[in-house]
Amino acid sequence: MTRKIDIFDTTLRDGEQSPGASMNTEEKLVIARELLRMNVDIIEAGFPISSPGDFESVRKISELAGYDAVVCGLTRAIERDIVVCADALKFAKRPRIHTGIGVSKSHIYDKLRIDEDTCVERAVAAVECAKRYVDDVQFYAEDAGRSDYDFLVRIIQAVVDAGASVVNIPDTTGYSLPDEFGRRINYLIQHVQGIENVTVSVHCHNDLGMATALALAGVANGARQIECTINGLGERAGNTAMEEVVMAIKMHQQELDAHTDINTTEFTKASRLVASTTGMMVQANKAIVGANAFAHSSGIHQDGVLKKRDTYEIIDPAEVGAGMSQIVLTARSGHAALKHRLEELGYDFEPEKLDQIYDAFLSLADKKKEVYDEDLESLVNERDRLVDALYSLESVQVSCGFPLRPTATVTINVPGDELVTVCEWGTGPIDAVYKAINKIINVENDLSEFSVQSVTRGIDALGEVTVRVKAKNGEIFTGRGADGDIIVSSTKAYLNALNRLIAEKR
Ligand code: KIV
Ligand code: ZN
Repeated sequence: MTRKIDIFDTTLRDGEQSPGASMNTEEKLVIARELLRMNVDIIEAGFPISSPGDFESVRKISELAGYDAVVCGLTRAIERDIVVCADALKFAKRPRIHTGIGVSKSHIYDKLRIDEDTCVERAVAAVECAKRYVDDVQFYAEDAGRSDYDFLVRIIQAVVDAGASVVNIPDTTGYSLPDEFGRRINYLIQHVQGIENVTVSVHCHNDLGMATALALAGVANGARQIECTINGLGERAGNTAMEEVVMAIKMHQQELDAHTDINTTEFTKASRLVASTTGMMVQANKAIVGANAFAHSSGIHQDGVLKKRDTYEIIDPAEVGAGMSQIVLTARSGHAALKHRLEELGYDFEPEKLDQIYDAFLSLADKKKEVYDEDLESLVNERDRLVDALYSLESVQVSCGFPLRPTATVTINVPGDELVTVCEWGTGPIDAVYKAINKIINVENDLSEFSVQSVTRGIDALGEVTVRVKAKNGEIFTGRGADGDIIVSSTKAYLNALNRLIAEKR
């Protein structure tokens, strides 16, 4: 039997730290349900002290997970962080506190402005403090990838002696080369006494495009836990992508003497869910979950694959849930069929909410003969986006073409239930719409990104628009909107982003 490698998912914590990828508690719960279906071992649900939203997410995910997964909250090596984290985890059946401190010279002297002795003292104090609340304490040695080998041994020895059950060795800046990172893990295992009684974890960033290779080098040298995210989401260039590292282990189980318990057939669905929730789209040529990951276009390749799939395909697409038979709902599908399909997609709604979704589904099915899973996800997300909206769209109308000057008339329902209409012109119809909205809402922002994606195939497909706006203080807010009419999706997306910005400001 090969070694079992624990999969620690940090999509909801490190993943959420990607600029513009922030999620609300409801969105995090939907993703957490999917992570449980995938059978991840640990869910890092947030950084409770950082915001009331993060605290609430950790609390609710703790209740949701029950005994099915360890639920983990992040802290700095600060007593107050740890106390708040323990409180957020109080309903977790299997709680873990993840505490730590920077260990490279750059972090110790330039960021923390302390000396090495103080750094070790704070690390030990944090582990001892966390142990007062939970048995399972994971210590992270931030920026371990650039740390001095012997100092790393010293601090890891100290936290192991203080009772840490997992030691996380991150390559925080994605600086290492796989061979060197593997040697570092090996060195720790050779030099820290008692390390055989704790789990060594690796947490790698993708700044040089090697996060997956680094994590595998860690596993080859004795690590028994990998920290990763769906689609490789995460700070800057992101983290190790779960779908990549798990499939690599599956393909090379014997060489690595390793296996995971992940249900890989969920990968495609999980990837779509995370992309549509965060608005961080996946590039077509992304390994495992990209639209082209199993597409063969050259004649030679097509000929080979038709003769025998594995001439050019190392993974059967079905293994990662790609190209599986699609369930198609139509206007004739009843309430029960919709409920069943939504449940399979991971959504569990109260009867009243389900009624509203059913109405929206029927009007979509009237316009579009076949409603696919992606349409349903988009519809559900669209409904959620409207729930707490301060400003909502009443109507939008544009006139454009050659040689017309593009104009838009927009009516918005503003707080106080008042309708305000503005007419504007712009360089194109969307510019005109956005200028009209800006006149009504009047909140300073910069549109930094605008993208359109077709949700499904065909000319009648829903168009999903993602926009990112930058607030005055530099914070980025993502907005999404879906509709069969691209002008309407664009309008909804912009309103969604501004509603989020205003809610945050308040
Ligand atoms: O990259 C990193 O070092 C982290 C730690 C907080 C675990 O995300
Ligand atoms: Zn990280």
